[in-house]
Amino acid sequence: MRATALASPAPSSPHASVLCAEVAALLAPAPGKRFLDCTLGAGGHSAPLLAAGACVLGIDRDPRARALASERLHAHSERLTIRGGTFSEAAAALVAAGERFDGVLADLGMSSMQLDEPGRGFSLHDEHPLDMRMGDGCVRDALAVIDGSDEAALVQLLRTYGEERQARRVARALKRARARGIASAAGLAAAIRAAIPGRHRRHPALRAFQALRIAVNDELGELERLLGALPALLAAGGCAVIIAFHSLEDRLVKRAFREQLARGLWREIARTPLRPTPAEIAANSRAHSAKLRWARRAP
Ligand SMILES: C[S@@+](CC[C@H](N)C(=O)[O-])C[C@H]1O[C@@H](n2cnc3c(N)ncnc32)[C@H](O)[C@@H]1O
Repeated sequence: MRATALASPAPSSPHASVLCAEVAALLAPAPGKRFLDCTLGAGGHSAPLLAAGACVLGIDRDPRARALASERLHAHSERLTIRGGTFSEAAAALVAAGERFDGVLADLGMSSMQLDEPGRGFSLHDEHPLDMRMGDGCVRDALAVIDGSDEAALVQLLRTYGEERQARRVARALKRARARGIASAAGLAAAIRAAIPGRHRRHPALRAFQALRIAVNDELGELERLLGALPALLAAGGCAVIIAFHSLEDRLVKRAFREQLARGLWREIARTPLRPTPAEIAANSRAHSAKLRWARRAP
């Protein structure tokens, strides 16, 4: 079946899925095949797999995403199973149970629904407290991360997870704002902007927000554990597809795939990442930083 025919997302998607045609072409869904979607979200990548007659096990740590996907993919409910928890927990349990899939997909990061929903504290404009928990498995919200870290630890966190060059200024601004009782995402973003004057191409709080979100959701730990389990989750010839949205994630995927190739676990891996076309980026600005890497299991 042609990728373009498979790539049409479910109608009226609240989240524009990235690199849909490329994912479908790599996974080549067909009746009898079984896929693990580690990041179900609104079901935008799973919809074409199900439409092609395949079975999907969809994981999402966000109960709201699970409810939405269940509603949107209702027509295929007999071939769709949805589970909560984190994908690293799911992967470990599936490996222990000896389950194998024809393809595994992870479309990393947060969804547009999570970013746009007031009260979740992901957006720079949210007047609610800086929460940033995606759902299951999160121990602390972002305010607790800031309050529970001294300034030096916060500097380290901003450098490591946000590659923030102004980490000292940003950490001090966050601590001072918290001491003044500022708790909202918008208020803390404004405090960061005030601490880094001048003209900026992007909002100066974006890197700090990325860093805090990664820490709250242990995103890199989750990804590392998933990458370690991937070869064991795939049947011979099966394909792993990972879409990363920043260099920290992409670096982990690239390294893991190369090491696993050297150990003979993959038959072939992407030499360079697939990127969205200018047309896709024009239609969906969130796609601009996406990098898709794939690896195919050795027989
Ligand atoms: C970018 S969205 C996926 C969108 C989906 N591919 C689509 O096209 O509709 C990422 C989703 O993965 C979920 N997620 C992120 N990290 C996760 C993890 N470690 N375990 C389980 N779900 C996770 C988020 O809650 C979010 O709903």
